[in-house]
Parts: sequence; structure tokens; C-alpha cells
Amino acid sequence: MKLLLLGSGGREHALAWKIAQSPKIEKLYIAPGNAGTSNVGENVAIKADDFTAIREFVVKNNIDMVVVGPEDPLVKGIYDYFKKDEALKNIPVIGPSKAGAVLEGSKEFAKGFMQRHNIPTAGYKSITAANLEEGLAFLETLEAPYVLKADGLCAGKGVLILPTLEEAKKELKEMLSGMFGDASATVVIEEFLSGIECSVFVLTDGKNYKILPEAKDYKRIGEGDKGLNTGGMGSVSPVPFADKAWMEKVEERIIRPTVEGLAAEGIDYKGFIFFGLINVKGEPMVIEYNVRMGDPETESVMLRIKSDLVELLEGVATGNLDEKVLEIDPRSAVCVMLVSGGYPEHYDKGFAISGVEEIENSIVFHAGTALKDGQVVTSGGRVIAVSSYGANKEEALAQSFANAKKINFDKKYFRSDIGFDL
Ligand code: AMP
Ligand code: GLY
Repeated sequence: MKLLLLGSGGREHALAWKIAQSPKIEKLYIAPGNAGTSNVGENVAIKADDFTAIREFVVKNNIDMVVVGPEDPLVKGIYDYFKKDEALKNIPVIGPSKAGAVLEGSKEFAKGFMQRHNIPTAGYKSITAANLEEGLAFLETLEAPYVLKADGLCAGKGVLILPTLEEAKKELKEMLSGMFGDASATVVIEEFLSGIECSVFVLTDGKNYKILPEAKDYKRIGEGDKGLNTGGMGSVSPVPFADKAWMEKVEERIIRPTVEGLAAEGIDYKGFIFFGLINVKGEPMVIEYNVRMGDPETESVMLRIKSDLVELLEGVATGNLDEKVLEIDPRSAVCVMLVSGGYPEHYDKGFAISGVEEIENSIVFHAGTALKDGQVVTSGGRVIAVSSYGANKEEALAQSFANAKKINFDKKYFRSDIGFDL
């Protein structure tokens, strides 16, 4: 099979690493990829949301399947673009239709969907400039802190958590008057939920589903979960509190109603669903949906999938996922992210990266790297993920931390407390 994977981050390197292990793969292309993906496949200089260029490439190279890494192409409707095109309509795209991608693309839609299907989530109200007064009144009924979410995609920056009512009211007005452009023309005000978060991933063909290994992500830049939010500084799988009993609740109350709800609403969804959950006194509740895998969770989760991922993806495409086997590695897998000093605020790029070749007993996934005159250099905030296995998370983490020290680039930073709260 010739497979085209779209995207360029650590998630895509981890997906490419796993896909490339399949005996079914004759050729793997990654568009646009990064310096690491070129070690497991062939990079193609096409942006992940350039549908015209993707079409041309897919037709010319007889691509058999397209796997979409990031949300952007999905929210822009790549699935529907393929379905409507005579030359592309029989080539499966792993990822939801545009109507399904709205689960991530609109917080208001996601909340309404959960309400319609009785899926546990925080109480909310959806506000625009037209019903601002209602929003201010709703805030007064809530207790601090206050959660405001821009309805649309804002590259992970659209959620504000505010300590006082005054700040919440002020920020609500600012969001509605264009703080995040059109994305915050509608704002979802939510009840604050207190608990530990956990990311649960499902692969679905629209009817059947497989629950992939769960993971915990560490979003804050500083140790002890302090400081600004980032794309994610590390991940751990499995998550100890996500035991059998808890995961049964997740499946009964959240996963099954979501997959059935999508089908009942006539939404075409063949791909990954990422459930951002929070454990509130033992009860799982949904914080958000994403329509793709998580990053850096994928850099742990892929290590724990023993089965052939391509075989599972074929099941998604054909609608017989129930006939496929998902075997999970019982070991722990973790990922520690090396980032550029200054990230998530200003940072410089183009620093030479050294030491990767000497790494043993970890798997190095590139996130923000590029090749410049034959040298691998930094090209993003999150630069490299160091993933390791262990009999338990302590063992796996010790391995990743040791190797994180051996990879060098100017102003390198990583959190050495990933997994501290589990
Ligand atoms: P989201 O983009 O919806 O995942 O929100 C970003 C982060 O804000 C989440 O990962 C949570 O840490 C936090 N958050 C979002 N909604 C809530 C909520 N209702 N209660 C508490 N924390 C929340
Ligand atoms: N790690 C969180 C995300 O991928 O959105």
C-alpha cells in the first residue's frame, strides 16, 4: 500500500514510525513532514491543507490511503473534498468529515452534542454580543474560577481561566469584541471542573470502535504544572487512575454515546476521536473533543500499540474494524519533550541539534526540526520528543530523562518532573 500522511509534528513522526513498521506498506509519504519523518518515509513539500497540491500528488503517485495528523485539514473539509472528486472518491481518508470535525472546530457544537446525548460535561451557556447580558448574569451564578472558551479554533489559546468575577466579565466582553477574531464571536462559558485530566483515544469506522491506550499530557511550561500553557511538554501511558472500572464508565457514558450520537446525527466519522477527560471525584467528564490524535500523547501511545496500525486503519476505511485485533503492550511508555528556550513565548530557531545518533534505549521523535545544509536544526518551539518504554513509568521516565540530557541544542529546556502527579 502507498500511504500519504499529512502533518509535520512529533505526532506525525510517531504515526509515521508506527505505520512504516507495517508489512503492508510499500511506500510512505509525509507531507510536509520534518527532519525525523524523512528517516521512516519520504517527505513531500506540500502543506497539509493545500488540497489542490495534495490531489495532484495523490493521483500522480497512486496513493491508496490518506491519514490526516492535524485538525486543520479536517476542519477545512479534506474528507468531503475527496468524496466529491471523481478521481479521489475511492481513496480512504482517515479522519472525520467536515461535519464531524466541528466537534473540535466549534466548542458550542461540542457542548450541544454532549447535551443532546447525555454525555457528562461541565454546565455551560453559549454567548454572543446579542445576549451578553445573559452571559454576565450566568457568570454571577457560577463560582470562581471562571472558564471562558472561544467557540472556534485558536491554536490552543482560546481558553481563559479567570480567578475573579470582575476579570471574567471584562474578558468576556473583550473576547466578544474580537480578542480571537471571528473565533471568539461566540464564547462558551463553563462551570469549572476540578480534577486530574486524562486523554482517551478511540479509532472508529463510524459504527465500531477500538479504545487505544490512554495517556496523560503535561501542558504547562514549568515544573509542578506552573506557568504558561504549551502544546504539551510530555506524556505518560498508562494513567494509573484510568483503571478498568474507570474506563468502563468512560466507555459506557462517553465513548459509546459519542460514536452512536455521531451516527444518529448522520455525521460521517471514520478516524480518531480524542476525548479530553477530567476525573471529578472518580467520575469521568468531558473537557473537550479533538478530531485527531494528541501531541505529545501520540509519542507515548504509538509505543503501546502492538498490532499493525495499518491493518486497523484499513478496518476504519472498510467499516469492519470489529474484525480487527488491537493488542496493547502492557509496559509503560512515556515521552519527554525538548523545547526551545523562551517557548511558548518568543524563541529563536535554526540551532544545530547534536547527540541524537548516540541515543540508545529511547525512540527519538522529531517535532520542530528541519534539515539545513545537511544539518538537523531547530525549527519550532517543541523540538524533539524522547520516548521510552519501561516496566513502569518510573523506569521509562528515568530512561527518557537520561537521554534528554544527551541531546543538545542552544537554549534547550525540558521538564524533569513529567509524571510527578500520578
Ligand atoms: P480545552 O481547549 O477545552 O481543552 O481547554 C484547555 C484547558 O483548560 C484544559 O486542558 C483544562 O486544563 C482547562 N479547562 C477547560 N475547561 C475546563 C473546565 N470546565 N474546568 C476546568 N478546567 C478546564
Ligand atoms: N496534547 C493535547 C493536544 O494534542 O491537544
